[in-house]
Amino acid sequence: MCGIVGVVGREPAAPFLLDGLRRLEYRGYDSAGIAVIAPNGTLHLHRAAGKLQNLVALVTGREPHGAVGIGHTRWATHGRPSDENAHPHTDCTGRICVVHNGIIENFATLRDQLQARGHTFRSETDTEVLAHLIEEELARLAACPPASLPVTAADGRQVEGDGGRLRVAVHEALLRVQGAYALAAISLDEPHLLVGAARHAPLVVGIGDDANYLASDIPALLPRTRLVIRLREGELVALDRDRVLLYDETGRAVERLPTYVEWDQSAAEKAGYPHFTLKEIHEQPEALRRALAGRLTDGRAYLAELDGLDLSRVTRVYLVGCGTSHYAGMVAKYAWEQWLRLPVECIIGSEMRYAPPPLDEHALVIAISQSGETADTRAAAEWAARAGARTLALTNVVGSSLTQTVEASVYLYVGPEIGVVSTKAFTGQLAVLYAMGLDLAARRGTLPPEQLQELAAALAAMPERVAACLARPEPVQRIAAACVNVDHLLFIGRGVGYPTALEGALKLKEVSYIHAEGYPAGELKHGPIALVEPGKLLIALATASATYDKVLSNLEEVKARGARVVAIATEGDTAIQRHADHVLYVPAAPELLSPIVNVVPMQLLAYYAAVERGCDVDQPRNLAKSVTVE
Ligand code: F6R
Repeated sequence: MCGIVGVVGREPAAPFLLDGLRRLEYRGYDSAGIAVIAPNGTLHLHRAAGKLQNLVALVTGREPHGAVGIGHTRWATHGRPSDENAHPHTDCTGRICVVHNGIIENFATLRDQLQARGHTFRSETDTEVLAHLIEEELARLAACPPASLPVTAADGRQVEGDGGRLRVAVHEALLRVQGAYALAAISLDEPHLLVGAARHAPLVVGIGDDANYLASDIPALLPRTRLVIRLREGELVALDRDRVLLYDETGRAVERLPTYVEWDQSAAEKAGYPHFTLKEIHEQPEALRRALAGRLTDGRAYLAELDGLDLSRVTRVYLVGCGTSHYAGMVAKYAWEQWLRLPVECIIGSEMRYAPPPLDEHALVIAISQSGETADTRAAAEWAARAGARTLALTNVVGSSLTQTVEASVYLYVGPEIGVVSTKAFTGQLAVLYAMGLDLAARRGTLPPEQLQELAAALAAMPERVAACLARPEPVQRIAAACVNVDHLLFIGRGVGYPTALEGALKLKEVSYIHAEGYPAGELKHGPIALVEPGKLLIALATASATYDKVLSNLEEVKARGARVVAIATEGDTAIQRHADHVLYVPAAPELLSPIVNVVPMQLLAYYAAVERGCDVDQPRNLAKSVTVE
């Protein structure tokens, strides 16, 4: 949510800023802006509501020439999407310029106080208070002799390091702020300097030749550098074109070596596919191989990351996540309860946050989040850690905020997911959760070795099965074409088919805007069957399972009422054709592992239906890739 870019170098800043914002579009936004310090010491500020091309059109022909600048894509929280509310924002003097991602929770109080002290506000945003707070701090620091930092802060503390007055002012201003932020700031009084800070929101430093950069995410930096440093909670950074100075939240200088980004630029681009979403759906076999690499060896599942966790007293497991990540947890519950013989509860992040279950050292809380930045999931994990539970993150983003909250982190390694809706991260989450469940079952001795081996072998075969599903998209395309004018669809399944149905319905509604609901098939008679009338479309998970016959009975009930049924069924099952109008075949898989393959036709259906309906598949309306606010 929101994207930040910043650069301090020798070359014109604007091309990097605009290109960087384009590469962060996947995060979701509704306005955009850039600010560049021109060589004559003035600030060039351009902002436009709507898509990035509006900003590009505004800037074209009058590109600012300076080499220091910041840019932003805004996803509105305080104030409607408009030119005035778009970032960057400036202070009263117009000399300080700020972009921000997150929410300043005490902004109303701060704004009232600032207004009472004579500051004039020009936007409805919470961010603008930051510009005015920094303005006040800089005015106070102006009394210090030039270049004499460390300086004394308002309360008499010595603030270490050089990093310029702007860095000290940002640090002091942030002490008055409650909430989440990643920000970048520039000032006409220190035109060679770029300052960044982060708490509960991501910010990455890029170290280049003759230039240094800031961005919300690595894809924005890749055309310029692969050497990066992720800011940790509360850290600040001061950049000029030659130096990167890091500070912890107390203002103390810290040293940290950059890491090298291994993945390729093409991994963050479309590689010939019309959309990132389709590319990521097709990447799943390879992504699954990467997620399982080194975790299924010698016929057993093993995750070294679990070694450091003391699980000896754990008697229950909580899987917490939002959206698709929550559904991945729901699938895992079915497998883990059988394999581990432990009660497993799945909780939505935003529910656990305000109604937490009683937790102690007997609970293992696993926070599942592709981005590792989802505010509700992170808050739930923080609460669990405070309550003394064992905590683990399952995420795709190394060093993300969530990983700084928990005792241990397990990574998906499925590569960057750029399309706003989750596809390869879902199957990656399932694969790693299955591997983790098998490893835990082995450690607890709750499954016989032969069964562990059998399941590990079946899991290892899943990438090929997913590849086989992807090899024949035509039947799905035909059904998607038939969905174009449908306004409502039901997805049903039993057992692991139920969370798979929920995920199928979520995917369809997110990208195609067709209303869809997932239900346990056995619940149809308890209400949703009232929606069934002649011509209604229903998608059923009807692959081989212990409840296959029950699903067939449910299909008969809806067919008797005139519904059109699309069944997702196991290859070779010809009997299903008597119960369904259309059949989408998938390769056979053990029931508990089947969601990894069964979700694939539903992902393709959502994708092709959205394309048929002319929807913006990669960036559906109102959605953001990382939901960093509540
Ligand atoms: C669905 C989707 C969302 C996310 C949810 C959690 O396609 O993308 O429902 O799954 O916002 O995001 P993460 O996993 O990043 O915590």
